[in-house]
This record gives sequence, structure tokens and C-alpha cells, in this order.
Amino acid sequence: MTASSAASTCPIVDASTPDAIKVLDVKHWTDKLFSFTVARPASFRFRSGEFVMIGLLNEVGKPLLRAYSIASPFWEDTLTFYSIKVQDGPLTSRLQHIEADDYIIMRPKPVGTLVLDALTSGSRLYLVSTGTGVAPFASLLRDPDIYERFEQVILTHTCRDVAELAYSADLVERTKTDPLVGEMAADKLIYYPTTTREPSNRMGRVTNLMESGALFDDLGLPHLSAETDKVMICGSMAMNLDMKQFCSAAGLSEGANSKPGDFVVEKAFVG
Ligand code: A2P
Repeated sequence: MTASSAASTCPIVDASTPDAIKVLDVKHWTDKLFSFTVARPASFRFRSGEFVMIGLLNEVGKPLLRAYSIASPFWEDTLTFYSIKVQDGPLTSRLQHIEADDYIIMRPKPVGTLVLDALTSGSRLYLVSTGTGVAPFASLLRDPDIYERFEQVILTHTCRDVAELAYSADLVERTKTDPLVGEMAADKLIYYPTTTREPSNRMGRVTNLMESGALFDDLGLPHLSAETDKVMICGSMAMNLDMKQFCSAAGLSEGANSKPGDFVVEKAFVG
């Protein structure tokens, strides 16, 4: 079933729709998570970690768009997105049915704060995510700049179940064998997955594991310090708020494109 047949009342996006891009490949990770790759418009430029608005047409033929982090590094010639499937979500209830050779809309205006330019320099970078919030880190982890700027890069991913960690496990594997960044990543990239509902090797919310110090002890790293540590946060609203408070309490200042700081936050797309 294609996106169009799943919602027959909505007009189909085709090659003539403004800002249409072609879907090349779709992968379903679980019954609630999927990723898809689209052709990259020749003139499209972005910084690793940024997001764009993508979507389909609604019942009256108007674009129905949501913010999606680009899960590809700036140098890749295709663009990948990672999405939740919400059965009654206005967009993802239909987007989850796209197939190769379908078209979707992508507004070619990348923005976002999860960019290396928004951080001051340090020796360690924590990329803290829940659920589909890991998507922008799939971009940043394959950008050579990250390994040039930091001695250690720690990716944390917290999900309810083990199956939901498949995307980040695959990402780390691919990154460590990537022809461009693989060697640097093999030395510097540390992966810290946790589950909160299904039993696994490491259980608990990343926020609690940081607060208790368990995460730092597990990794043999010092506790968070503004001098050495920088943090990028992307996940649910609740996690973002808790991490923001934790970082602020540890003396880290929030950064932005216009004023780099010690940590940056962005909400993962949900719904
Ligand atoms: P939990 O199972 O304890 O709620 P969701 O599927 O609801 O989007 O959540 C994704 C993951 O984020 C879950 O593992 C969930 O844990 C975790 N999570 C939710 N709220 C927070 C928070 N405030 N801090 C850290 N992790 C959180």
C-alpha cells in the first residue's frame, strides 16, 4: 500500500508538486519505527544535525509538514529520515506507507541548534537521545568535524524496549566501518544504550543514570564539567527538560547558533 492509497481522500504528491523529492528506499525497524531515504536535490546544502520540514498533501491539497532531523551527514548524496509511526497521527499514519518511487514534499530550508557551531570547544561530547531523537546524531556521527573537535564522543540512546535500539546499534556499527570516519570513530565513539521497560544489559533513564553518576562510573569518565564536556540533547519534551536542568545544575550554559555554549537542545519530532 502506498501513501496515496492509504489515504485516498488526499491528493498524491508527484514530481510536479512544489518541492517534491523522490523516495528511494524505506526500512521498517519495528511496528512503530521506520526510516526512509530520499534523493538529495542538487542545490540543497545543510549542516550536519539540522532539520527540515517534510510531509505530504492534506485532504484539500495543502502541504501537511512536520520537522524532521536529517539523519545523514552533510556530505552524503541522499537524505535519510527516521520516524515514529503514530496510527492516528495526521502525517505519520500516512507517511509510514510510503514506498520507493513515491514522492514526498521537502522544504529546502534547513535549520536547527544541534550543530557543532553552537558549541564551545571541549574534549568530550555527549549526544543524549530518546526514541527518534537519535536521528540528528546519525548525521553528526558521520561528520569528520566531530572527531576533529572532540577526543571522545558518547552517544546515549534510551528507549522502552531493546528492539527500539536497533537503529542506533546499526548506526554505531556503520559509523565504525565507514570509509570516511570509521577509523576516527573506532577510537573515539562510545555507545551507551539503555532501556526503561524491557530488561537489557543497562536499564534506566539516561537522566537518572547521569544524576546518580552510574553512567560516568560505567564508562570510567569523570562527572560532567563545563570545562571539558559539551552536550547535545534530543528527545521527548520531558527528557529535554530534565537534561537541560541537569546540565544547568552542573554549570553548563545553553548555546545557540548566534552564541555558542556548553549544551544545545532540540525536541524530537513526535506524532
Ligand atoms: P520511560 O519508559 O521511563 O517513560 P517514549 O516512548 O514515551 O517517547 O519514551 C522514550 C524513552 O524516553 C523511554 O525509554 C522513556 O522512559 C524515556 N523518557 C521519558 N521521559 C524521560 C525523561 N524525563 N528523562 C529521561 N528519559 C525519559
